Order: sequence, then structure tokens, then C-alpha cells
Amino acid sequence: MVMIDSERMLRRIRELGEIGINETGERTRLAADDSEKLGRDKVMTWFHEAGLRTEVDKIGNIFGIWETEENRGRDAVMTGSHIDTVVNAGRYDGTYGVLAGLELVQSLKEAGVRPYRPVAICAFTNEEGVRYQPDMMGSLVYAGGMSAEEACRAVGTDGTILGEELSRIGYLGEREAGFLKPFAFVELHIEQGPLLDAEGFQIGAVEDLQGISWTQVTIEGAQNHAGTTPIAYRHDAGVAAARVITFMRERCLLPGSRTLSTTGCFALEPNAINVIPSRVSFTVDIRNPNEESLQAEETALDEILRIVAAEERVNVTSRRISRFKPVRFDEGIVRLIEKHAAARGLSCRRITSGAGQDAQNMALLCPTAMIFAPSVAGISHNPKEYTSDADLVACAGVYAGVILELAEKRNP
Ligand code: GLV
Ligand code: MN
Ligand code: MN
Repeated sequence: MVMIDSERMLRRIRELGEIGINETGERTRLAADDSEKLGRDKVMTWFHEAGLRTEVDKIGNIFGIWETEENRGRDAVMTGSHIDTVVNAGRYDGTYGVLAGLELVQSLKEAGVRPYRPVAICAFTNEEGVRYQPDMMGSLVYAGGMSAEEACRAVGTDGTILGEELSRIGYLGEREAGFLKPFAFVELHIEQGPLLDAEGFQIGAVEDLQGISWTQVTIEGAQNHAGTTPIAYRHDAGVAAARVITFMRERCLLPGSRTLSTTGCFALEPNAINVIPSRVSFTVDIRNPNEESLQAEETALDEILRIVAAEERVNVTSRRISRFKPVRFDEGIVRLIEKHAAARGLSCRRITSGAGQDAQNMALLCPTAMIFAPSVAGISHNPKEYTSDADLVACAGVYAGVILELAEKRNP
């Protein structure tokens, strides 16, 4: 059974979690910003300390590669996750997967193990998609779903250009994205939802992942006086936006619906108490595990945008800024996860990832699956995100067993 240095892994999770905490105590490491650079520097230092070959590719993905003279050139078992965060984030989302990957490789290396295949840990660029869209960008580019040049031209919510920011922080690399050919990809992550914790399972064997559609909407009405303008005379961009949001929420509540719709960004202009809003810009994040259902929701959104434009007499424009189909993971690796959980006497359930993940893009390249650790009360994208040390360690043990078995495999 693979033994990892749990204390070292936990210490590094805590240490990386301190990076990007601002004056008000919030942890924010947006893709390619100054805080994320410090996180990258830390991870690269740890890769070097572990004696790994490090690489950076043309979209800024960073790699720590463990290879021996005998296995160099063979398709690698790839793993990892991301170290960028949302705004005011938790400690574990993404970083757990990167640091557990590092720990398992370092522990195996120190134990003198020489696997048949190289193992590469990756921290992908801009998984969260908060600053630049689409999300999961580094893995999307790695898997060939978007060119590095196009991704580097992405304009951020703050007006910056991703390629320029990567260059500024010293992480615009030379390697072509996709330079390492993966034999398999396994990502370890916290669940970020309530199921494992609520049902008392220690391990999630992730068998699929729901589709994601992001739309940026702008509604333009007419600025006018709140006290003098009768309702019938208004072109109220705020009311139009509110109608869209509540309409999408009602669709989520229809019997049998598995849709989740969220408006996480919402900006009113001029944003004054006694002024009818002239302009609203907001986002709609729609998710569903079924592609046809997701398409039906996109059609419904387009339709309600047309209706409010006509009925509220406002101008509506919308742009799809991110789109990922649902993904089914590799059944063989899902079974391997179940086997290693059982071997350690840990309770395991199959589960769907509600969150977007780099693994969904890597699944385009090679057999892929994910392992989830329980998130206490299902809280995530929140500083209160928490997974107990015992669960982090137990899950990392299963993960280590799975990665080593894959790294010893001759054939798919
Ligand atoms: C990433 O965390 C996402 O699911 O939006
Ligand atoms: Mn994540
Ligand atoms: Mn996240």
C-alpha cells in the first residue's frame, strides 16, 4: 500500500492557503495576478525540491514531471488541478489536487519506487474563469479545444490581456500545449457539494460531470426619474434583468428539472436609489448533466431575453462566453477508484461533479476520472470551505494507489 507523508501534504495545503490573503483577510488568487504568481512560485519551488523536471507551456500551465531513465518518453500518467481561485475563496478547491499529486510523487520517489510510466503533476491556468473566460482554459488549450494564441488574447474583467499578464508574472512558457502525451488523467478534488458529507461517505468516485453554459447579458433601457416616471413610460433595464433571473430560477424548480441557474455578476448603471437603471450587465451560469436539457435551457434563456426586450421596451444583447458539454468519465478508472477505496476499508459512492473541472477537458485526450473528498456541509467558493485532515489524507491514499497502479500499466 502506498504511504504518503500526510503531514507534509497538509502543511503545504495550509501554506499555499496563506498566499493571496489580502488586508481584509480574503483569499483571492485570480488567474495570472500577483497573488497567483506567488502561488505558482511556491509550487514550482516544491516541484524543484522534490527533484521534478519543471515545464511551463504557452498558456502558462505549470508541470512537475517525475521520470526515470527507463520510463522517459513513455506516455505519462497525468494528474493535478489548479491553484487559481475565485474571489474570497476557500483553501482546498484546486490546491488539494495539485499538492496531493506532488506529495504522492515525492513520497514514491523517496521510497525508491521506479514506475513503468512517468507521472506529471499539472497546475492548469485559469480554471476558475473569474478573470478570463472561458473557465478551465489551461486544460482546454492543453487538450486542443482552443489555441494558446486565442486564449492568450482573452480580455479580463479588469481589461487586462491574459497573455500579457502571464508574460508579466513570468509564466508565459515555451512548451507547446499538449507536449506530454497522457496515458491517463486522474484529478483529486474536494466535492464542493453536500452529498458525501450528508450521506456519510469518505470517497466519491466521479463518473460524470454536468454541462456548463455561461452567458453575458447586457440590457439597455433609459435613465429617468424614479418619482415622476409612470410605470408605463419606463424602459427599466433593472426590471428586465430581474425578470430574466426569476424566469430561469422558476425553470429550475419545474418538476423533474435538474437545471441550476445562477446570476453571480450583476452591475446596474447608474446605480442610484432614485434613478431608473439605464443599463444592467449580468451573467447567467446554467448547468445540467444532460446535453439536450442544457440546450433547452439555452433556448429558454434566448426566448425570455426576446420577450423582455419587447415587453419592457429595452435593448438586449447577449454573448455566450463559455460552453462545455457534459462528460462521462472512464469506467475502468472509476472501478479502480472503487477498488482502492474498498482495499482501504473506506466507504465510496459514485457521484456526478457539479463543478467544472480540468479533468473534463483532459477526458478528450485520454481515459480520465476524478476522486472527491467530502466537503463539510457542501460549502465551497467560500472561505468556510472545509474538509477534515483525516478525509484529505484518506482520499489522498486512495488517489495514490490509483495513480501508482496506472503508472505500472503497460497497456490501456
Ligand atoms: C468552477 O469551479 C466552476 O464549476 O465554476
Ligand atoms: Mn476546482
Ligand atoms: Mn472552483
